[in-house]
Amino acid sequence: MTESSATFLLFGATGDLARRMIFPSLYNLLSDGLLPDDFLIVASGRSEMDDDAFRDDVDAALHQFLSPDRYDPQVAATFRTIICYQPVEAGNAAQFAALADRIDGRLERGLSVYLSTPPSLFAPTAQGLADAGLITPKTRIAMEKPIGKDLASSKQVNDGIGALFAEDQIFRVDHYLGKETVQNLLALRFGNLMFEPLWNATGIDHVQITVGETVGLEGRVSYYDGVGALRDMVQNHMLQILSIIAMEPPARMDPTSVRDEKVKALRSLRPMTAETVKTHSVRGQYTPGAVGGQIVTGYADELGQPSTTETFVAIKAHIDNWRWQGVPFYLRTGKRMPARQSEIMIQFKPVRHSIFGRDGHGSGLESNTLVIRLQPEEYIRLTIMSKRPGLERQVHLEEVALDVSLTAAFAGQRRRIAYERLILDLLAGDATLFVRRDEVEAQWAFIDSIIDGWKEANMKPAPYSSGNWGPSSAIALIERDGASWHD
Ligand code: BG6
Repeated sequence: MTESSATFLLFGATGDLARRMIFPSLYNLLSDGLLPDDFLIVASGRSEMDDDAFRDDVDAALHQFLSPDRYDPQVAATFRTIICYQPVEAGNAAQFAALADRIDGRLERGLSVYLSTPPSLFAPTAQGLADAGLITPKTRIAMEKPIGKDLASSKQVNDGIGALFAEDQIFRVDHYLGKETVQNLLALRFGNLMFEPLWNATGIDHVQITVGETVGLEGRVSYYDGVGALRDMVQNHMLQILSIIAMEPPARMDPTSVRDEKVKALRSLRPMTAETVKTHSVRGQYTPGAVGGQIVTGYADELGQPSTTETFVAIKAHIDNWRWQGVPFYLRTGKRMPARQSEIMIQFKPVRHSIFGRDGHGSGLESNTLVIRLQPEEYIRLTIMSKRPGLERQVHLEEVALDVSLTAAFAGQRRRIAYERLILDLLAGDATLFVRRDEVEAQWAFIDSIIDGWKEANMKPAPYSSGNWGPSSAIALIERDGASWHD
């Protein structure tokens, strides 16, 4: 690892992500004394604005998005002094030159560039940086998803950036990797002896990954329509979670070891076909309904026209390698679900032989489950079988939960915004929690097979009323296999 970048250059600084996440995260890092000395944030966007107007905007964003107990006027005053603003449009050489003036004399101490702009601007922005002399071996570049809309376009984006930066200077952001709970999967699997021996086709029946959201389009029509849940959530966040659950143990917690193992798992995903999408995937789109007691409109109404974009997707994936042969991974995610709830459920196999009657029949014997709740609560819950107290002749078993509430166990520690971890790692040059090019491409290869299958099979989204876990076919997808979703 190298020394931390002394300058952070943010493109898309007036955008929603910057206001909600990036500035509050930088503020928190400053407040905790984690930013390097003489740190400078150079913010840039298309709007014409001077430094002070922009600082006022950032201050308003802090008020809006930080929890009130975190806002300290003194820290906020210092924060203002380390921010400046430079209007820049892609392709405007004079503005890039002005940007370079702002950073003059600082490049030697490292520059971390963060692209929070539409991907069509990634390559032109990188070119602008190159022409202005801002790319040195000490420059790093981070980019937000989406990286392309399929494998071919993601290659174009990666080629565009890759022409100007070496792979170890490129940091592809998947904010789920910044979440404590997702990192905790590594701790759970590789920091404990008891799970790993069972973590394979011998011990595990199937895996479920659910990311449920209650929100709808939230004014993101222009981005979301035509993209849909598969590209928006599965291609990145859910496949990253899957790769961490499925990967072989890496030799070390370093960028190469971890990402080598993740990419192997991603490359083992069995591609779908026009035949298999019919039984292994479900597309849905929300219609009017109620979420949390509130009446909400349907997707097409929000959009103002009919659409074939899916707002819900469920898939049954297979990982064709030695460890996971025959173990389905069921994934589902959607907007306007009954609850904001993200979790992983590992369903273990039954005990090999029941001593409590035939197949445990009548005794209450169930297979163990491990639930890792990622949000909103953070806990790990293992259900184990226990004897119900009593003098009955036949033993009655009941599921008892071994519960670890991480929120309670680490009550003294502030839960951090995922971006705090990621920005700190970017500044420090640690790419472990960023996505490597080969991972993105393996993810797209799998997603492309589903999208191609949908097209060929002419599979359109099925309607579901808002406030439900997708169309009924999503229930059938798993129940055909004798299992059911963990709600
Ligand atoms: C983003 C998606 O990447 O993740 C959004 O584009 C989604 O559609 C969001 O709402 C979910 O993130 P989180 O952290 O709220 O689970």
